[in-house]
Amino acid sequence: MKRIRLGFANLQVEFVDRESALRLTEEWARRGTGLPKVVYGPEGCGKTAWLLQSVELLKDYGFEVIYVNPLNKVAIAEIGITSLREEFTKLVRGAISQNALGRLTWLAFDMAKELIRATRGRVAILADDVFQVIGVKESAMYVKALLNLIEYPPERYERIVTIAATSEGMSLHEIGRHSWSDTAPMWNMGREGFEQLYEQIPGNKPDFDHAWRLTGGNPRTLERLYERDWNTDEAINSLIKEKGLSHAFIRRWRDHLKEAINDPDYLWFNAPEELINELVERNLIVYFLLERRQGLWIDQPPPERDLELGIGRYVAWQSPLHREAVKMALESVRP
Ligand SMILES: Nc1ncnc2c1ncn2[C@@H]1O[C@H](COP(=O)(O)OP(=O)(O)OP(=O)(O)O)[C@@H](O)[C@H]1O
Ligand SMILES: [Mg+2]
Repeated sequence: MKRIRLGFANLQVEFVDRESALRLTEEWARRGTGLPKVVYGPEGCGKTAWLLQSVELLKDYGFEVIYVNPLNKVAIAEIGITSLREEFTKLVRGAISQNALGRLTWLAFDMAKELIRATRGRVAILADDVFQVIGVKESAMYVKALLNLIEYPPERYERIVTIAATSEGMSLHEIGRHSWSDTAPMWNMGREGFEQLYEQIPGNKPDFDHAWRLTGGNPRTLERLYERDWNTDEAINSLIKEKGLSHAFIRRWRDHLKEAINDPDYLWFNAPEELINELVERNLIVYFLLERRQGLWIDQPPPERDLELGIGRYVAWQSPLHREAVKMALESVRP
């Protein structure tokens, strides 16, 4: 399998690590996905990177592959039939030019259906970041549509792989209420794999240990720091803005947040649901972490509990920098 190159700030890096996740893609390529796979995890943990590498892998397994990411306005059709590819490209261009991102999402679905009809072969559809675009209710419908593709296809087929990825916590709840998919979490990178990414960054940089403690293996957090010339305060401040950690928000939840920065599991046992929803919606925490068994996670599970990295047994900060953002916001607001 060819290792893809990925944009990383102003650099190009080679895809590294994620061996277990790729082995899982391989298993799905061999057997097909019985139910659509819905993968969730911290923002910037590497879901898109893994899906894009999976496109290559699935191609090697003889799949016709559709990848769509409406948030990034990207749709890739790795398909053999030229006329279908051209038609898809035309429709995608039209949807993007009109900013019809929901339509883009469904175009990918329609194309997968068309491919089953035309090839009766191996078809994969990878839907990345679609839930953010189409909203909670329609996301559940999309997953149901993917399931229907598998169960009631327009033609007999050899094998289907459907994967959807999201960092968005709220739609998961809605999707999880139905039994239309298998959901599985992905975590930030493990230390060794993350070091291979860190090694690809040129120039002066903090030592690896320091980078690890700030990022907890979250590649997007590393990217943020690199973009700001390793100015941690600047990176934290931009996160405070992005997450809308306003004075009013901090004042309102001050006591709970103070506890949660020391131990995120505090939220599990003591926090009101409203606060938890706020933190999940803002992509600050992951709530309800599964047991740390390899088979339950897309790649390596996080540690059982590592308070230095902000990881509790049931709840974790998405990365240590996310926690630092809340901590700095707390410090800047007088009681
Ligand atoms: N395995 C990897 N090898 C090399 N670079 C990676 C890897 N995983 C992620 N990256 C880089 O880290 C950054 C964040 O990764 P990515 O965009 O895949 O995260 P994500 O989980 O899809 O984020 P979001 O939740 O925002 O969709 C990107 O610049 C990506 O290229
Ligand atoms: Mg992504």
